[in-house]
Amino acid sequence: MKQVQIKLFKGILLFIFIVVHACTPPKPIKGAVVSAREEASAIGVEIMKKGGSAFDAMIATDLALTVCYPNAGNIAGGGFLVYRTNQGVKGSLDFREKAPLAADANMYLDTEGNVIPKISTLGGLAVGVPGTVAGLYEIHQKFGTLAWEDLVQPAISLAKNGYVVTEKQYKSFEGKKEDFIAVNGIDTFYAQGFKAGDLVKNEALAVTLEHIAKKGKAGFYEGPVADALIQRVQATGGIITHEDLLTYKPVWRDPVYFKYKDLSIYTMAPPSSGGICLGQIMKMIEPYNVGQYEQNSMEAIQIIVEAERRSYADRSLYLGDPDFVNIPQDSLLDVSYLNERMESFSFENATKSPEINPGTIVWEESEETTHYSIVDPMGNAVAVTTTLNGSYGSKVFVEEGGYFLNNEMDDFSSKPGVPNMFGLIGGKANAIAPQKRMLSAMTPTIVERNGKLAMVVGTPGGSTIITSVLQTLLNVFEYDMDIQTAVTRPRFHHQWLPDVVIFEPNLFSQSLMDSLQGKGYDIKEQYSRIIGRVDAILISEDMSLSTGADPRGDDAAVHLY
Ligand code: GLY
Repeated sequence: MKQVQIKLFKGILLFIFIVVHACTPPKPIKGAVVSAREEASAIGVEIMKKGGSAFDAMIATDLALTVCYPNAGNIAGGGFLVYRTNQGVKGSLDFREKAPLAADANMYLDTEGNVIPKISTLGGLAVGVPGTVAGLYEIHQKFGTLAWEDLVQPAISLAKNGYVVTEKQYKSFEGKKEDFIAVNGIDTFYAQGFKAGDLVKNEALAVTLEHIAKKGKAGFYEGPVADALIQRVQATGGIITHEDLLTYKPVWRDPVYFKYKDLSIYTMAPPSSGGICLGQIMKMIEPYNVGQYEQNSMEAIQIIVEAERRSYADRSLYLGDPDFVNIPQDSLLDVSYLNERMESFSFENATKSPEINPGTIVWEESEETTHYSIVDPMGNAVAVTTTLNGSYGSKVFVEEGGYFLNNEMDDFSSKPGVPNMFGLIGGKANAIAPQKRMLSAMTPTIVERNGKLAMVVGTPGGSTIITSVLQTLLNVFEYDMDIQTAVTRPRFHHQWLPDVVIFEPNLFSQSLMDSLQGKGYDIKEQYSRIIGRVDAILISEDMSLSTGADPRGDDAAVHLY
């Protein structure tokens, strides 16, 4: 009898617990960091707990990613920040890498003018002059509220105490081990066979970060850290000098701005192609009211693919570093121009990419980059995408510094001005020149609705960055999805050339694939490529936050309540 009473009592307690839990509204999220690693997101939130702003949290998160996400997190790479202050001021910082002073347009060509395989991706000659530390320091000068050293310290502690290798990370280390050894020798730090669950302590990186903590920007671009970097670049065939490091400067730029229905969208301007392409695609889609078709339906996919096709064709000809080339940004975003571009679109048949001018290079861009989104309790927001370009960049590891160097030089067109298979000329806008910035696709983006902050979003993924950001925006604002669903939903990608549409495998129905093929679309589904890893924050009218961290990676949102 007693047993029965106890069971009943326990049952009642459980029932009360469930009812109370169901009736208690979730705690409102006051601030959030969504990044590629939970450690980095948590470090950003800790900074906010100490009273730091989204800008302070950005610096700490970014440096933490250098430690625990070495394939893309970086101090020897570059990136872009798009921000919106709680006063509604929008802006962006370009801390993209630059070509070294000794670079020239033909540096990757042999005597016969052919591209020499791999030298723009692997080894010292692939390395662009890094911009990350200068960028973070510049942001601190303008917006920092906590002391610089206190923002660097969490990354120092993480490097000293170690981070735990994830399953995905283990596979990534294994996949690149041969390259690490080929470039750096058998004893190189990241070839020692770290397994999932292992703790990686990077003492050398802790020392580098200590220099940066003490001396700020000069801790990286001057002194022993700079000496080690130059020595390593030159020992592996590179051409970066102390003068390159000393003359590097980030640039404040106006973000690209465009309207999509009732949204105001602020995103990255050149030298990223991201903002202009996102604007072109969304403006081309807008008249079709894509929300009237089901998400990922044939009609919706056709409209989106055809807009992407036309925009990516423009990208190849017009876009490059605005400090070196004239970019007709207003014309490219002009509504009548874009409507005209879509006049050749029909639901009946796919347009063929060679029919879309202008045409030139086939665009190969690395998928490894990293994005994080932050909103602080004061309402400041930052969208930041940074990169080493390839996974672990050039694979050149500065052993005494504990970090990888980028291979961003590969984002230039190595052989511009040469007719492609369709006889069309292009790519000059993105030709290599000393101190020029290479074209990017990174698309950190901030959305306003009714004059209020509505969304912070971005992703890695090379050429798929723009189309992944686009689909996440449409999922939320056309299809009313919550942010996590919007980030998780299957994605597809098209980029003009090659003339194929790629789909995440096994997530789209065979009948949809068949119908698209019937209309002349070349489909590639069984393709291992991940299409973006989106990290986003949605802000509702009452300023409550919700977060979406992409399950395609180890991405994690950490909240401040
Ligand atoms: N390296 C990738 C990008 O900048 O888009």
